[in-house]
Order: sequence, then C-alpha cells, then structure tokens
Amino acid sequence: MWSWPAGQRSFSASPKLVGLHVTMLSVSCVVLLGLFACALGRTSPEPRGEKRLAGDEERRVSEGTERWTRSAGLNEQTCTDVSGVESTLLNSTNTFSFKVRTMGSLSLAWVGDGTGVLLVLTTFQVPLFMMRFGQSNLYRSEDYGKTFKDVTQLINHTFIQTEFGIAVSPDHSGKVILTGDVSEIGGFRLFRSQDFGRNFVSTDLPFEPLIQMLYNPADCNTLVTLSISLDLWLSEDFGATWRKIHDSVCLVRWGSKNSIYFTTNTNGSCSERGMLELRKTLDYGRSFQTIATRVYSFVLGGKFVFASIMTGKGTERMIHVSVDGGEVWNMAQLPVVNHEQFYSILSANQDMIFMHVDDPGDSGVGTIYVSDDRGTVFSKSLERHLYTTTGSDTDFTVITSLRGVYMTSVLTEDGAVETVITFDQGAKWQTLRRPQNSHCNSDSSTNRPNKCRLHIHASYSTTMKMNVPMLPLSQPNAVGVILAHGSIGDAESALSPDVYVSDDGGYTWLLALKGPHHYAILDSGGLLVAVEHTNSPVNQIKFSTDEGQCWHTYNFTSDPLHFSGMDSEPGSRCMNVSLWGYRNDFSKWVVITIDFRKLLTRDCSEGDYVQWLAHSTDPSGTSDGCVLGFKETFLRLRKDSVCWKGRDFALTKKLSPCPCTVQDYHCDFGYYRQENGSECVRQQELKDKPLEFCLNGTAEQLQTSGYRKIPGDQCEGGFQPERKETDLGKLCTSNALFPNSLIESSSPNAVIIVLVVIAILLMSAVAGVWLVKKYVCGGRFLVHRYSVMREHVEANKIEGVDDVDPNYMETGKAQYNEDSDQDLLD
Ligand SMILES: *[C@@H]1O[C@H](CO)[C@@H](O)[C@H](O)[C@H]1NC(C)=O
Ligand SMILES: *[C@@H]1O[C@H](CO)[C@@H](O)[C@H](O)[C@H]1NC(C)=O
Ligand SMILES: *[C@@H]1O[C@H](CO)[C@@H](O)[C@H](O)[C@H]1NC(C)=O
Ligand SMILES: *[C@@H]1O[C@H](CO)[C@@H](O)[C@H](O)[C@H]1NC(C)=O
Ligand SMILES: *[C@@H]1O[C@H](CO)[C@@H](O)[C@H](O)[C@H]1NC(C)=O
Repeated sequence: MWSWPAGQRSFSASPKLVGLHVTMLSVSCVVLLGLFACALGRTSPEPRGEKRLAGDEERRVSEGTERWTRSAGLNEQTCTDVSGVESTLLNSTNTFSFKVRTMGSLSLAWVGDGTGVLLVLTTFQVPLFMMRFGQSNLYRSEDYGKTFKDVTQLINHTFIQTEFGIAVSPDHSGKVILTGDVSEIGGFRLFRSQDFGRNFVSTDLPFEPLIQMLYNPADCNTLVTLSISLDLWLSEDFGATWRKIHDSVCLVRWGSKNSIYFTTNTNGSCSERGMLELRKTLDYGRSFQTIATRVYSFVLGGKFVFASIMTGKGTERMIHVSVDGGEVWNMAQLPVVNHEQFYSILSANQDMIFMHVDDPGDSGVGTIYVSDDRGTVFSKSLERHLYTTTGSDTDFTVITSLRGVYMTSVLTEDGAVETVITFDQGAKWQTLRRPQNSHCNSDSSTNRPNKCRLHIHASYSTTMKMNVPMLPLSQPNAVGVILAHGSIGDAESALSPDVYVSDDGGYTWLLALKGPHHYAILDSGGLLVAVEHTNSPVNQIKFSTDEGQCWHTYNFTSDPLHFSGMDSEPGSRCMNVSLWGYRNDFSKWVVITIDFRKLLTRDCSEGDYVQWLAHSTDPSGTSDGCVLGFKETFLRLRKDSVCWKGRDFALTKKLSPCPCTVQDYHCDFGYYRQENGSECVRQQELKDKPLEFCLNGTAEQLQTSGYRKIPGDQCEGGFQPERKETDLGKLCTSNALFPNSLIESSSPNAVIIVLVVIAILLMSAVAGVWLVKKYVCGGRFLVHRYSVMREHVEANKIEGVDDVDPNYMETGKAQYNEDSDQDLLD
C-alpha cells in the first residue's frame, strides 16, 4: 500500500513508463507507436503465475460469507480444455514482417467498419526539436492486418508529420486525409482518399496547417482547420478547395447540426485569456453570431455548451452552461474556487454532467457534483475524490457495458487510495467487493480484516508509473463485461496488479489472470484475449470464451516476439486480433494476426442465450434490477456456449418500468447523502441559508425536501417528494452574456482567480492508442522496449478548457453516445 505523497508529484518507480507520450491522431481508429525515450535500466520481470487460479487458493477464501454467487465454477475442474487449439489456430495465424525499421513512429488507422482495411504509416523523423525532416512509408492491409502492401508511392514518399497523422472520417465512408510536408518546395500538401485508401489525390494547401483536419461529424465532406496564423479555413468539397472564413481564431469545434463554435480574439492574441469572444456559425461561415464575450475558453459535451467566462471586474471566472447552443446561458451553481483550485467536467451525456471541484489546498482531492438536466443546479455526489491538482490524473471511468455505472478512486483520510463505484449515475457510491476467488495479502488482512477489498488501477496508477499496461476496459455490446487491473487489500497496492473481470457491470469480480496483461474484447464479449505484459519475448496469447472465467492458451509462434501492442478493429465485433512487435534483431516491425473464427466452430443460436436481469442484487425483491426508473433484461450468451455471435450481433433487451423510490433521486442542491445512508441531509455550510440560484436571469428560490430526480430517470409513481422552484422576481446576472450586461456586474469582494480546467471524459473508446518507447541508451546499441495502452487511453483524454494550447486541439464531436463506438469526442 502506498500513500499520497504530500505536496509532491513524483513517485519513484520502475523506469517502465518513463518518457511515455500519448498522441492521439484522429477521431476514429488511430494507433501510434514509437517514440524516443531514454531509460537507464530494465525492470526485472514479475514472477509469472499460472493461467488460472489453483484449487487450493479457492479453498483459502472459504471464509467468504457474501451471499452473491457466480454462475459458473472458478477452478480448473470446471474449465474444460478446448481441444485442438494449436492445430485449429495455427492455420489462422499470419505473420507479416515489415521491411521498415522500428526506428521512428508507426501510426495505425482502421478505415471503415467491417472492411478490414488498415493503414499503417511509419515515420522516421530526425529527433531534433527544431528540424522537420523525415521520411514516411505507407502500408495498407485489406484483410484485418494479415498482409500489408507498401503503398508509399501513393503519397509520393512525402514526409507526413506524426502530429497530423492519419485523419479518417468518423462516418466509416472510407475518407482518409494525410497531411504531407513539402516544405522543400514550400508548403503543405493533402493526400486525400475517398475509397478506403486505395487511391489518393493530392492537393496543395493555400496555408500552413496548425492542427489536423477536423471532419464535420454530420457531413464528412466538410472540414475545418486552423492555419499557423490562426485563420479558420473551411472546405466543403473534402479538401479540394479551401476558403478562409475567419481570422484570429483560438479554438474551434464542430457542434451538432453543422454548427461550428470557436473563440476569437478581437485584438491581441489567444493568450489574452478572458478577452475572447465565443462565436458560432450555422451556415459554414457565411454569417456569425457572438454568443458570449469575455470568454476564457469553452467546450462542447453532450447537449451542453460550457464556457468559462470572466465575471465582475476582477479575474474571477465562472462556468456557464447552455443547453440551447449558447442562446441562453446559466451560471453553474458550484462553489467558488480560488486560483489554485480547478473545476473539471468528468463526463457529460445527454442528461447530465459529472463535475469535479477541487478542494482548497494542495490536497489532490475534490468533490464530485452531479448536475440536473439543465446543467445548472448541482448536488454533491462524492467527497475526497482523487484528482491531482495538475488536473490530469483521475481514475474516473465510465463503464460502458452497463447503464449508470461509473468507477473512480477516493483518497481516504489516512492516505489510502480506494476504488469506489456507483451503479445509479452518482447517487450512491460504494467500495468494490472482494472477489470470491482471491484472498487478502497477509499483512493487510490481519491488520484490518474487514477492509479486504478489490481496488482497480486506472490512470492514476499509470501516472504513478505502476506496472499497469492498460486501463479498465468495457464495451457497450459486451453487456456487463469489465476487464481491469486490480489488487486486493485495504488500498491500492503498489505490488504487481492482476487482471480481474466482472460480468455484471462491477457488482462482482473475479481474479482472471495473474500479473499485468494487455487485453481486448472480441466478438461482442464472446471472446476475451490477453497477452502477458512482460519484458521477455512472448509466444502465448490467452483467451476465454466464458467472459473471463476460464482461460486457455495458444502458442502463436515458435519464435517469440518482443510484444509492443495488441490491436483489433474498433467496436469489438471482430474475431481477428493483431499482435505488434519485433523479433530479436530489433530492426523490423512484425505483426502476427490471429483469426479466432475457426475456434468458434458454430454460430450461436437461440438456445445459447439466457435472460439476464441487469443490476440484479436482490432477486426476491420487487424492485430488483431497478436503476434510473427501469429494469433491463438482456439476452446473454451462456457461459458454457462456445459459439460465434457474429459481426451483426445486436443486443436484445427488454425494458420494464419501476415505481420511484429514494434511489431514483439525487440529493438536491444543498443536500448530500451520508456514507451509508440513502437519506439526503442538509449540507452543514448551507444550513439556515435560503437555497437561491440564478436561472435565466432571475433569482429562483428552491423549496426542497432534499431530493431531485436523477436526470434521465424514468420511474413512475411511488416516492414523489415535494420540490418547488419559486421565481423571486428579482433580476440576477450571470455576467456572461452580452457586452452591456457586463458593465453593471458587481465587483467581487476579493480578487479571486478561478482557474478552470475542464476535462472531458469520453464515453466510449474507438481507437487504440499504443504507446511505444524506445530506450536509446548508452550510445553503444539500441535497446527497444515498449509500453502499450489501448482503448481507454482516450477515455481520459483531457481537454483543458482554460488551458487551451492551439496545438492541443483535436477533433470535436458534439455528441456522446454510449451505444456507438463511433461517437468519440476527442
Ligand atoms: C512526386 O515528387 C516529385 C519530387 O519530389 C515531384 O517532382 C512530383 O511532381 C511528385 N508527384 C506527385 C504526383 O505529387
Ligand atoms: C484592444 O486594444 C486597445 C489598445 O491596445 C485597448 O484599449 C482595448 O481595450 C482592446 N480591446 C479589447 C476588447 O481587448
Ligand atoms: C507454449 O509456450 C510455453 C512457453 O511460453 C511453453 O512452456 C509451453 O510448453 C508451450 N506449449 C506448447 C503446447 O508448445
Ligand atoms: C477476419 O479476417 C478475415 C480476413 O482475413 C475476414 O474475412 C473475416 O471476416 C474477419 N473476421 C471478422 C469476424 O471480422
Ligand atoms: C457505515 O457503516 C459501517 C459498517 O456498516 C460503519 O462502520 C460506519 O461507521 C458507517 N458510516 C457512517 C457514516 O454511518
């Protein structure tokens, strides 16, 4: 167990992740490999365990008194060998060696959905900071990575800067743009393809781009980008011709319905924060509307537009929220924070926002607030939420495989990091239960036997350089399935984490694999695969056909590979998985693609599925499975069915309404839930004060018994507490809006700088991101080592609203959609 290092951000750990660098390249499906970094040593490999838990370990945990049980056996006896794995899969395993050396970087992009088209761009760049010199090679596969063709001539051997990468249209229509650097002849050249990268046409750009081309998610023929002189350029014909629509633009995003939102500086530069104007255009730049002034920065998420806006005469900033595209703004009812604190939007969907507000002082913790459906009135959801002051490390994770489930970490009073989970969109949080098939490390269990719990390792552990190669993984089409690294004890352990699975959305967990692994979900959850994360070359892939209970191994090669990452088509419908790495000669990329289709010899039929009630915790109760006002019954694959769900697998679910109970309510503004209780109690600091807030320009008084229905909750009848918002008939100002309303604003009582950092946590992950490092050490020889993260790296992509560096801008998509893997807000 480790404690929070007070006041410091460094953590001595293995050099494994030193020099890691994340680069995200496009809205869909891009993977980046390859960065230069230097490290001084190697970590010794973790002691390697077996693939499954042995039976005696099982017995040791027999003191477990939990009433929940799992549907299938946990020990070797109940796991039957899949016969003939080697011979079956051997014919379905392809190895491809690239001629290009592993120096430099490798980006990977899936084009289309179900097309099997994969583009690989390797770039060798002289690692000098000021120089832009390099060479790129382009490869294309049409068979899910089994074979590649060198198609570098299509881009005329032009150097493609890694930062621009491969821009694939998010609509799966097969559009691809590569931004080539032809500075030797002066300028930039686009290579554009509309046929899944088969052919490219080149177009010289009339400007020098600063950021990657941003596709309009509603019409991928329309693109915007910024030039290095901060001009906003738009193309309505897929990049063939460009038109400058605005100058002095600091940050640009696509909104819904072809809208473009951007901040602009009227005089001065983008660094003059708080003096920006937020503008939008609904007609591709033919007319503009200023929707807010004195803007520090903005972000789009769900149905909401957030802006941090200067208020008063001072340097105070407040978050303002609009649900109608910036016509009407309301000030978010949140505590005022000083200049050392920050706000952060953890997640936003069509119904509500999760907002983190940093505590005063360098505590590394804050409070999560949940909003109402207007994004205006917030109530307290979780205290002591771990989020470092730098505004980048939080374990907050949206579990996409079950509605209403979110997971994160809290820092306890005594300095331990504990994982907590909510199953009802933040109304109530609880710790994770100990997996039935594992036991506590001796010292922690003897000291505090009742504190023996499962803790999940996510971003924070990664930042702390722990041996956690992947973040928690879930997929909307693999109902209930979560794969994550974790450890058992009374706090996150710094020891080697193991892989745990849950098949019910986080209620129960199972130790699946000893030691850290890379993992992926295939066939909509019907197949899980994992490769051990180790320093030595690997030749084994593990797989499970029963959602992680039994694991089998397959030796995919006789010549082990230095493994750098695993990749499969986004969306988890595929059966092909590619393992990237290199052999002992250190020189060339090798990709081994395994097609698991042959293993699952038959298609699943009706009899392979059983009904499963989500969120079922009390089978005898009438409200069993009720979450957010309704029950969901899914058809799920039986654990013992070994069959292929297929690409076209669609979730089958039945919904039924529930009567309202106290569980269908968040605590209202000014109220909170105590640790164990379901009742809402008044916040101490707001006791005896009238609950007032400013809505649409008038003061509202809130009369509440402490409960506010959870946004999106569909319960009917039952518990209906009284709640009234009375218009006090008093004007109030939220300072946001138009220049004249700003002049009358009252002066703040103190100069408080409100530092606002907005982070958007993505609801679903599309692309894989591979982080690859190379250690170029000692000068005598090159040693290559890799670290790989995938899928949910993007889930924690931070968007610094108040800290927007124009270089940091990425494609914006205005929608979160948990049902679709394509809707990625980047
Ligand atoms: C390819 O590059 C060469 C030299 O760099 C240039 O002369 C030629 O025009 C280019 N061809 C295309 C199609 O861009
Ligand atoms: C623009 O610049 C002038 C002089 O440099 C200054 O007086 C004025 O306040 C500035 N306006 C804005 C909106 O920043
Ligand atoms: C598979 O490889 C492992 C070493 O990674 C080896 O111990 C094992 O015997 C191999 N199994 C088969 C069936 O070849
Ligand atoms: C796996 O790849 C092959 C081509 O190599 C393709 O025909 C097949 O459809 C892929 N399987 C799935 C499930 O996508
Ligand atoms: C919550 O419950 C536990 C045990 O059930 C108890 O030890 C703890 O004091 C309770 N906390 C509060 C705030 O009531």
